Amino acid sequence: MNSLCLGIETSCDETSASVIKNGQEVLANIVSSQSIHSIYGGVVPELASRAHLPLIVPITQTALAVAKVDYKDLSLVAATNTPGLIGALLVGLSFAKALAMSLKIPFVAVNHLEGHIFSVLLEYPDIEFPFISLIISGGHTELILVKDRCVYELLGTTLDDACGESFDKVAKMMGLPYPGGSFVEKLAGKGNRTIKFPLPQIDRYDFSFSGLKTAVLYYLRDTKNPKLEDIACSFQELVFDFLIAKIQSVVDEIGIRRVTISGGVAVNNRLRERIKAFAQKNEINYYFPRAEFCSDNAAMIAAAGSERYKRFGGSPLTIPALARTQI
Ligand code: KG4
Ligand code: ZN
Repeated sequence: MNSLCLGIETSCDETSASVIKNGQEVLANIVSSQSIHSIYGGVVPELASRAHLPLIVPITQTALAVAKVDYKDLSLVAATNTPGLIGALLVGLSFAKALAMSLKIPFVAVNHLEGHIFSVLLEYPDIEFPFISLIISGGHTELILVKDRCVYELLGTTLDDACGESFDKVAKMMGLPYPGGSFVEKLAGKGNRTIKFPLPQIDRYDFSFSGLKTAVLYYLRDTKNPKLEDIACSFQELVFDFLIAKIQSVVDEIGIRRVTISGGVAVNNRLRERIKAFAQKNEINYYFPRAEFCSDNAAMIAAAGSERYKRFGGSPLTIPALARTQI
């Protein structure tokens, strides 16, 4: 019998609902990004929670309509319960629990980072395990050894800013809109790598982006008529040098030559070019999800939830929302 999972994602500033069939086939994936935060240059947690509230029901109804299914057809509800903004998480989590309870179907809580790993599996279900997963988004920078579905070992994480956050902060310094990643990419495409910012020196598989951000700040402060295109290009290339150096060391040391890259920054076309060149040179298989599944979305939550339910059963309705957790 077919299973139909409704996924709900509200961990940050995207309200999303998705219906997937048999853990794999995406029938609908509706995402609404909140624009309110752009005037503040970053996500305001309280505004994010409030903005999810009027959207969660209509977004879910739209997902069901697009998938051409009814509430009574659903067999599972999955929602992100961690990590994220606590008020924002609570909106989707409480809604999902209440819906599952009223429909008398199981509920499963999903770690948002596990969702980002499954965003690649949605596209490439046959990737061989184990593989290395790099998650680069506005809130996360994680290097994870994926031993099997739902079996993970965290290898490294950021010590300060997340990778996407550094794009957002550098964009803000240059007067670009929020979220700034795509604007930095566009500007970088018109510039040259003329500025030597310092490459962060961080042990093992961890990351750090705040020193680089500060170097850009000082460069802007101390340079007369700075060429923004060159700053964007030099910054972006250095971030990608850093990511690639980390992938290189983990591949060399662990010896697994399959790498997935997901999260909002993974839509960056220059990153895709750089990874392609690096992977070809080093005989590494690499996998990016399609753009729709890179940024936050409920399809990846439904995919992770379906697998989690298959392996471990549902979650208790008492499971809390947690702002911080590791995978
Ligand atoms: O995965 P995501 O939608 O949300 C989080 O889980 O955080 O990622 C959003 C992040 C933002 O920091 C945004 O600036 C960044 O992804 N981003 C990009 C690009 N498009 C979005 N970063 C670099 N280049 C891009 N083209
Ligand atoms: Zn995310």
